[in-house]
Amino acid sequence: MPIKNVVSWIAMVSAYVENWDIGNARKVFDEMPERNVALWNAMIMGYMREKSGVDKGFELFGLMPERNAVMYACVITGFVRSARVDKAREVYDGMCREWRDPFCSNALMNGHLKMGRLEDAVRVYEEMMVKNVVSWSTMVDGYMKASCFEDGFGQNGYGKEALEKSKDLKKYGSWALVTGSTDGIGKAFAFELAKNGLNLVLVGRNPEKLSNVSSEIRLKCVGIEIKEVVFDFCGDLSYGISMIKDVIEGLDVGILINNAGVSYPYARFFHEVDDELLTSLIKVNVEGTTKVTQVVLPGMVMRKKGAIVNIGSGAAIVIPSDPLYAVYAATKAYVDQFSRCLYVEYKDKGIDVQCQVPLYVATKMASIKRSSFFVPSASGYAKAGLRWLGHEPRCTPYWPHSVIWAFLYSLPEAAIDAWRYGFCLKIRKRGQLKDSKKKE
Ligand SMILES: NC(=O)c1ccc[n+]([C@@H]2O[C@H](COP(=O)([O-])OP(=O)(O)OC[C@H]3O[C@@H](n4cnc5c(N)ncnc54)[C@H](OP(=O)(O)O)[C@@H]3O)[C@@H](O)[C@H]2O)c1
Repeated sequence: MPIKNVVSWIAMVSAYVENWDIGNARKVFDEMPERNVALWNAMIMGYMREKSGVDKGFELFGLMPERNAVMYACVITGFVRSARVDKAREVYDGMCREWRDPFCSNALMNGHLKMGRLEDAVRVYEEMMVKNVVSWSTMVDGYMKASCFEDGFGQNGYGKEALEKSKDLKKYGSWALVTGSTDGIGKAFAFELAKNGLNLVLVGRNPEKLSNVSSEIRLKCVGIEIKEVVFDFCGDLSYGISMIKDVIEGLDVGILINNAGVSYPYARFFHEVDDELLTSLIKVNVEGTTKVTQVVLPGMVMRKKGAIVNIGSGAAIVIPSDPLYAVYAATKAYVDQFSRCLYVEYKDKGIDVQCQVPLYVATKMASIKRSSFFVPSASGYAKAGLRWLGHEPRCTPYWPHSVIWAFLYSLPEAAIDAWRYGFCLKIRKRGQLKDSKKKE
C-alpha cells in the first residue's frame, strides 16, 4: 500500500487480533507512526482476551497516554477471567469513581464471588453509584451460594438477607407519616405500613378521601392508630406545616414517606405550562417535600433513628430527558439530589434517607388503569418499596423497572431522547384532542 492511513492500520491490528495472532498485531502496532484511542483499545483488548496475555496487556495499558473507561473495564474483566481478582481490585481502586460503571463493578463482584469472598463483593456492591439488574442478581446469587439453608435460613444468614431485604420497620419508631395518602402509591404505602403494625399520620388535601382511607385501614388493620392532617400543598404551606408539627408533637415518627406529587395533566411544551400548573409543581413536589422533611426530621435526630423515603421519578434519573414534562422532571431531579445530600448528612445520625425512583406505576397520575409486568399496581410498588427501605440512597424497588433501566442504560442518549420526544408529542396531541372535545 503506497499510503497507509489510520483506518488501514486499525484494520490490520484488528484483523490480527480477531485471528488470535497477537504477535503480528503487536508488530503492526509498534510500527505505526501515530496511534489513536481505537488502536490502543484494540491492542489491549487483544491481550486481555488470553490468560497468557493479561500481563502484557496491563503493561500496555500503563503506557496508554489517555486511559478511558472502556479500557479500565477491559483490564478488570481480563484480570477477573484469569482469577487475579486482587489485581482487578487494584485497577478498580485506581479508576475515578465516575468511570466505575456497572459493567466494571459487576465484573469485579463476580470475581470476588467466584473466589468465595462474599464480603468483598458486598463492599463493591455497596460502593456502586449506579446499580443495574445484573448487579442485583449477581448479589442475590452470591448470597444464595454463600448460604447452606440447613437451618431454613442459611447457615450464616446471608440467604435470609438476600431474600428479605426489608428491615424491621418498627425499629425506626411506632409511627409513620405519609403524604399524598389518599390515592395511588401513597395510599398503598399507608396500607402496607399499617399491615406492618405502624400507626399512621396521613396527610391529604381531600377530607372525604382521607377519612375513607383511614376507615378502610382501620377495618383491615385492627388496633392501628391513625391521625389525619387535611392540607393542600398548593395552599398555605406554612399553615399546613404547622398543623403537621402540632399533630406529630410527642409521637415517635420513625418513617416519613414524602409521596405527594403532581405532574402535568398531559405533555406540553414549556411555554404552554400556565402559571397555576407551574406553581403547583414547585409547591407540591419541591417545597412540600422539603418542608415536611424539615418538620419531621428534628424528632428523628433527637431519637437518633428514622427513615425518610422521597418519591422521585425515572423521568429525572432513568431517562436522560423528559421532553414536554420539563418542570415535572426538574422537580424530581431536585428530590433526587436533596435526598442524596441528606443521606450523607444524616447517615451517622441513624437516619436512612432514600430517593425511590419508580418508572410507570398504574395510578391516576400515570393514567394507567391496569397493572402489567412492567407497570406494577400501586400496592405491588409499595410492597417492593418497603422492602428497600433503608438500604440505599437511591433505588428502583420494583425489579422489572430495573430491567428497563439497565436496557435504557445500554442505549445512546440521543436515541432515548428521540424516542421519548416522539412518545410525548403523541400524548400531547391526544390530550389536546380531549380538551377540545370537552370545550365543544
Ligand atoms: N404513577 C407513576 O407512574 C409514577 C412514576 C414515577 C413517580 N411517581 C411519583 O409517585 C408519587 C405518587 O404518585 P401517584 O402515581 O400515586 O399519583 P396519584 O395517584 O395522583 O396520587 C398523588 C397523591 O398526591 C396527592 N396530592 C396531589 N396534589 C396534592 C396537593 N396539592 N396537596 C396535597 N396532596 C396532593 C393526591 O391527592 P388526591 O387524592 O386528593 O388527588 C394523591 O393522594 C408522586 O410523587 C409521583 O410523582 C409516580
